[in-house]
Amino acid sequence: MPGVVVVGTQWGDEGKGKATDQLGQNVDYVVKFNGGNNAGHTVVIDGEKFAFHLLPAGVLTEGVTPVIGNGVVIDLEVLFSEIEEITSRGKDASKLLISANAHVIPSYNRVLDQATERFLGSRQLGTTGRGIGPTYADKMNRIGIRVQDLFDESILRQKVHSALDQKNGLLTKIFKRDAIDPDAVADELLSYAERVRPMVVDCSTLLNKALDEGKTVLFEAGQATMLDIDHGTYPFVTSSNPTAGGACTGTGVGPTRINRVVGVVKAYTTRVGEGPFPTELNDEMGERLRAEGGEYGVTTGRARRCGWHDAVVTRYAARVNGLTDLVMTKLDVLTGHDTIPVCVAYDVDGVRWDEMPLTQSDFHHAKPIYEQLPGWSEDITGVRKFEDLPLNAQRYVERIEQLAGVRISAIGVGAGREATITRHSLVD
Ligand code: GDP
Ligand code: IMO
Ligand code: MG
Repeated sequence: MPGVVVVGTQWGDEGKGKATDQLGQNVDYVVKFNGGNNAGHTVVIDGEKFAFHLLPAGVLTEGVTPVIGNGVVIDLEVLFSEIEEITSRGKDASKLLISANAHVIPSYNRVLDQATERFLGSRQLGTTGRGIGPTYADKMNRIGIRVQDLFDESILRQKVHSALDQKNGLLTKIFKRDAIDPDAVADELLSYAERVRPMVVDCSTLLNKALDEGKTVLFEAGQATMLDIDHGTYPFVTSSNPTAGGACTGTGVGPTRINRVVGVVKAYTTRVGEGPFPTELNDEMGERLRAEGGEYGVTTGRARRCGWHDAVVTRYAARVNGLTDLVMTKLDVLTGHDTIPVCVAYDVDGVRWDEMPLTQSDFHHAKPIYEQLPGWSEDITGVRKFEDLPLNAQRYVERIEQLAGVRISAIGVGAGREATITRHSLVD
């Protein structure tokens, strides 16, 4: 039985939450492997909406064990408020497990994330301000705080003190802020220790054993390929690896155990925060996509930037992640256009690029070369079989499939769990 990875192929918010929830009905474990509460994943079941930041979307499915892998960074306050919220709505989060090696987001990293953005002014990245970047930087700098440190008070205090020795200098001298008291930070972290303790596991042993027993494990990415620290539009990216390789490093499961890599792709494109976006529409059409697609961030409420589908990006994501399947979402939002442009290549200062340009400077200059596809006007939200879609909608899906070089195995025609056309099973 398989290890299945679900990743975003664009700049996030493709509908990974819905895809994970839906696949979760056929799996035993759903593991989040990267990111933190910068993510916002929406699941709609019987008209009821759930928004997750830290909890894996599989938490809503009975029988699924949700796991937070070592690659995730955890804001403990957010974690427990999310657990309380879904518990108060009658859902069960008691099976949640957390890797002992995951890092926690100390409150000073939230302060530093926001202070750095303000300091950068017009050069800011547009982060979510949740302390994600500074916490991953601490991990790489080897001054991070891990979940397991909550169980050794003297080590924890020592680590917080040595991190703040450096950071208080930055806060007071450069950012002109007040210094942060290390013992107050340590006390706050320690206050969560006994609630966290029963959830803590060796994530790698747990998941490898599950796979040995023939169980199905779904690896759920936060963010997306173009926000990947290595493969995205650096520096306008997040600080983790949301691409398929991150599923291995972020959980302790080897690549030979992954059978499928499913890329979630919106029928058009959106992006939140700063950075290049060749197909962005800064006009009424962009406004229309935003309004009809409800394109406002789940985490920060920011309006998402909107544009046409960029097949160069999808093809790139197919390569970087080794995609076996695509799930296309929000096809219903494209209903009602006479023609729908799809970007098939870029013009970079007079030179045609069919693949991603080599350098960021070139990507910043990339102008989309569009192919015009005929649109459809019929309401497709009730369609459940591919053959029942209007012919032009079928052609749109097939053309993107062809341009990406990966089959589109499922198509979303609405936000609800049931509003999906399945063409190929994703977990066999
Ligand atoms: P994620 O971060 O990738 O999980 O995506 P988000 O939840 O941030 O954003 C996706 C939005 O699209 C959510 O509001 C979903 O409920 C919604 N959604 C997902 N799939 C579909 C679809 O096929 N059609 C429509 N109309 N909405 C969808
Ligand atoms: P999901 O999982 C969309 C963006 C931020 C910013 C950049 C860096 O819902 O798809 P960070 O706080 O991570 O340091 O911000 O990354 N970003 C997202 N954009 N969806 C997300 O998650 C995102 N997570 C981070 O807007 O541009
Ligand atoms: Mg989101």
